Amino acid sequence: MARVAIVTGGTRGIGEAISLALKEAGMTVAANYAGNEEKAKAFTERTGIAAFRWDVSDYDACQQGVAEVEAALGPVDVVINNAGITRDGTILKMTAQMWDEVIRTNLGGCFNMAKAAFPGMRERKWGRIVNIGSINGQAGQYGQVNYAAAKSGIHGFTKALAQEGARFGVTVNAIAPGYIDTEMVAAVPADVLEKIVAKIPVGRLGQAHEIARAVAFLCAEDGGFITGSTLSINGGQHMY
Ligand code: CAA
Repeated sequence: MARVAIVTGGTRGIGEAISLALKEAGMTVAANYAGNEEKAKAFTERTGIAAFRWDVSDYDACQQGVAEVEAALGPVDVVINNAGITRDGTILKMTAQMWDEVIRTNLGGCFNMAKAAFPGMRERKWGRIVNIGSINGQAGQYGQVNYAAAKSGIHGFTKALAQEGARFGVTVNAIAPGYIDTEMVAAVPADVLEKIVAKIPVGRLGQAHEIARAVAFLCAEDGGFITGSTLSINGGQHMY
């Protein structure tokens, strides 16, 4: 039986590329989305991948969403925690709401999805969880205390959960993308983005499929010895 994978935020941007890569790898994919009904519908028509709507920042919605996917497609073997938002602003301008929304979605979403899917993986003694972090969680970014904190938190979350899953065949890894050519990055003011791209040694933005191929690699059947790791994919912008 094909492995069943959930990709959160899986109908757009990096998530869409991940959904496609996992389908290509032979998995049955459920692409989760939060609200953009029109784009999700177009995605399913284009790719044949089923889309399921729920908000990853909502604990109960994740429990319900995973149950819905399992009823439709079977037990969930793979979770890609990709859903993420930005609410950029310097701390002088950042409201408590901007902080909360980003922490609850980007970091809380990982917890909520793991709570829903990890027990089944552990019981069946096989699972793959890949959390999408960010270069900005590793290095920080002016105007992103919320996003940097959430993404940095993802890296700690990954290493902790990896230890809990290790004896049960459940691997947990993170990918830290740099600046990728998506709508999220396109929303950065053009003059600011120009300066950022100038600092990328490869000399360009990354492409979503360049992240997706690494996700598929970490989810492979023979990936069982890779756990607790972070793979940086950023064109050389941040090396350590
Ligand atoms: N370091 C030091 N100073 C900086 C700076 C930096 N990196 N960036 C901006 N500044 C300075 C400016 O030069 C300006 O200084 P002056 O007033 O002296 O000219 C000042 O900060 C601007 O401050 P403001 O409070 O007026 O800022 P603003 O409200 O105009 O905008 C911002 C601030 C919203 C943070 C804007 O700069 C911005 O959007 N930056 C991009 C943030 C970013 O990279 N986000 C990533 C989104 S993509 C993503 O997150 C995906 C991923 O994982 C990589």
